[in-house]
Amino acid sequence: TARVRVHHLQQAKERGERWAMLTAYDTVSASVFEEAGIPVLLVGDSAGNVVLGHTSTVPVTVEDILLMTKAVTRSTKRVLVVADLPFGSYEAGPQQALATSVRMMKEGGAQAVKLEGGGRVAPQIRTLTENGIPVMAHIGFTPQSEHALGGFRVQGRGAGADQLLADAHAVQEAGAFAVVLEMVPAEIAGQVTKELSIPTIGIGAGVDCDAQVLVWPDMAGMTGGRVPRFVKKYADLRGELLRAAREYADDVRTGAFPAPEHSFE
Ligand code: KIV
Ligand code: NA
Repeated sequence: TARVRVHHLQQAKERGERWAMLTAYDTVSASVFEEAGIPVLLVGDSAGNVVLGHTSTVPVTVEDILLMTKAVTRSTKRVLVVADLPFGSYEAGPQQALATSVRMMKEGGAQAVKLEGGGRVAPQIRTLTENGIPVMAHIGFTPQSEHALGGFRVQGRGAGADQLLADAHAVQEAGAFAVVLEMVPAEIAGQVTKELSIPTIGIGAGVDCDAQVLVWPDMAGMTGGRVPRFVKKYADLRGELLRAAREYADDVRTGAFPAPEHSFE
């Protein structure tokens, strides 16, 4: 089957069909998600936390995202791959955003990019779309700004609702093909979804968004420790991997592995 395109996501909204996005950082998991029928994969800078061992997304570099985008695009042919623009790679202005995004498309093989911010990054979104690069926006809680926002907090409550609505309209007006709503009250996310013609993709934003996204190691129970309230764990991959690693180590100690069938004559 053919590649998922931006207009398919637009058609899904018009038909009222919800869809799921996942993050992907490597070639094997990306191929699993494509086989599962996930239409859109995000090479997210959440890799800073869940792959690279940083405590935030701030240190993630363009080279980090490029490396992972290449891995994801090599093993997939149907999913729409979105490369996240890391902190510091687009804020300076439209030309910086364009230069970074061209690398994500040309070298990484991505079909779209994502950046954080509302009206503030409208000039970047406009320049990218005018140059043939589909842009996914990201508003509400934006992890790259966690130090300015005072940590992981729900955005768009009370007086913040007007700002959120204004940002949603600003990114649509600038040409974004979709917008991620992170940690936004469900009711406000529902209102944004109704008001916008482009799809909304929720994470901690309730069921009324057009689509949902989760960080895959959270979704699959691979991440250690606490996960945010908005995560549902669909597996215990960490437990399963732990069991497998222990069993392998035990088998090596006892001599149960390798058996004759794993050995050459
Ligand atoms: O980096 C990421 O994983 C993201 C999603 C949570 C939207 O930006
Ligand atoms: Na991100």
